[in-house]
Amino acid sequence: MVDVILGLQWGDEGKGKIVDYFAPNYDIVARFQGGPNAGHTLYVEGKKVVLHQIPSGIFHQGAQNIIGGGVVLDPVILQKECDTVEGFGIDVKKNLFLSHRTNLILPTHRALDKASEMQKGEGKIGSTLKGIGPAYMDKTGRNALRVGDLLNKNFTSQYIKLRLKHQRLLDNFNFTEDISAWEDEFFEAIEKLRSFKIINSEYYINDAITAGKKVLAEGAQAAMLDIDFGTYPYVTSSNTISAGVCTGLGVAPQKIKEVLGVTKSYCTRVGSGPFPTELENETGEQLRQIGGEFGATTGRPRRCGWIDLVALRYACMINGVTQVVMTKADVLDKFENLDVCTAYNIDGQSTTQVPLQMEKSPLTPEYQSFKGWNTDTSNLRAAAELPKDMDAYIHFINEYLGAPIKYVSNGPGRDQLISL
Ligand code: GDP
Ligand code: IMO
Ligand code: MG
Repeated sequence: MVDVILGLQWGDEGKGKIVDYFAPNYDIVARFQGGPNAGHTLYVEGKKVVLHQIPSGIFHQGAQNIIGGGVVLDPVILQKECDTVEGFGIDVKKNLFLSHRTNLILPTHRALDKASEMQKGEGKIGSTLKGIGPAYMDKTGRNALRVGDLLNKNFTSQYIKLRLKHQRLLDNFNFTEDISAWEDEFFEAIEKLRSFKIINSEYYINDAITAGKKVLAEGAQAAMLDIDFGTYPYVTSSNTISAGVCTGLGVAPQKIKEVLGVTKSYCTRVGSGPFPTELENETGEQLRQIGGEFGATTGRPRRCGWIDLVALRYACMINGVTQVVMTKADVLDKFENLDVCTAYNIDGQSTTQVPLQMEKSPLTPEYQSFKGWNTDTSNLRAAAELPKDMDAYIHFINEYLGAPIKYVSNGPGRDQLISL
């Protein structure tokens, strides 16, 4: 069977840490969507590592790690990640497999991402500029180059054809930056990519399931950034939700068992777009500083606010979440009061549903207040040790979501996870 770990908010919930924690229980860990826009932070032997495309099971020698067909892959970034992981004495190539269906991010995709954002000006998405949108546009536009194409003799001519197409688009954007250095790196990196294990991942994964092996699917980004169900157009270009596991890995829906949804105990967002519970004040700044809320991929300060249960319950519904993991509970240790958004007031009407466009009409969050626990919780290791005010906070969220909070993470370290 396949279990899934994915984000329920706007990304950076701590998915990487949670996947790394559970990976020893699995034979295969597979990324099913997204690309190097992701930044998944792990602590290995006390040292921080940020993974962008390599699945977060790579530090466990017993797990095979697959970059699935739903991913868009930047070969240059992959090479850098491999070097980092090898620095920990891990033989990356032994345990890393690439799907032949994975789409390639070309240097011109990055240029197009940049040109498109520049043209949007004020209305920009706040993209990570990794070429994600243009790469997925080529996928759905039926133009893309895939990892399997690297093994074709005519790869270079396919590349040149697509590059010319991109050049015409770049000319339309009046984009004149010289990207020849990016192309040099790209060709160097794809040479190396050919020596990776390129597999027919749909058979590989399904055969593993039939043989009784355990598969963990790792999501990137999160529900509110999903291309269909997120805060469109301020979203990423893939299906970040559990349905994306089926299309990204080629597994049937009935093969999916547990869906672990990860949420922070508060909420953050990086990039543009609506964020009802955002706190543009001292409290927001406090969350940012205590939580270290700066992007793992771009270093941008993350926007911070209270937990939004309207959006969270929606995310649980869309994903079929069976267990919730609440991370960064320790970040709330020093707050006197905590607000929890339980409804949106839109044009004077209270609703507990996520509207089509949160930004279209004035939306005010309705809050319920909770007493903070005012205790250092980062050293706690058992559910029975949780302060009573934290219990009350968790219990309320549990009831509202209708999905059980099964784990509370109380620090970035591997051992900082409490099973409830
Ligand atoms: P991801 O993209 O969902 O994997 O999350 P990121 O790695 O982008 O961001 C999560 C950040 O929070 C990282 O810096 C983690 O080291 C850190 N982190 C994860 N869990 C916890 C936690 O429970 N408490 C604290 N204080 N930090 C955490
Ligand atoms: P992880 O996996 C947080 C955001 C960007 C931007 C929007 C579109 O680490 O949680 P894109 O580069 O995909 O075109 O950007 O999505 N975004 C993320 N925000 N965490 C991420 O990944 C993100 N990946 C993309 O900031 O607003
Ligand atoms: Mg991240």
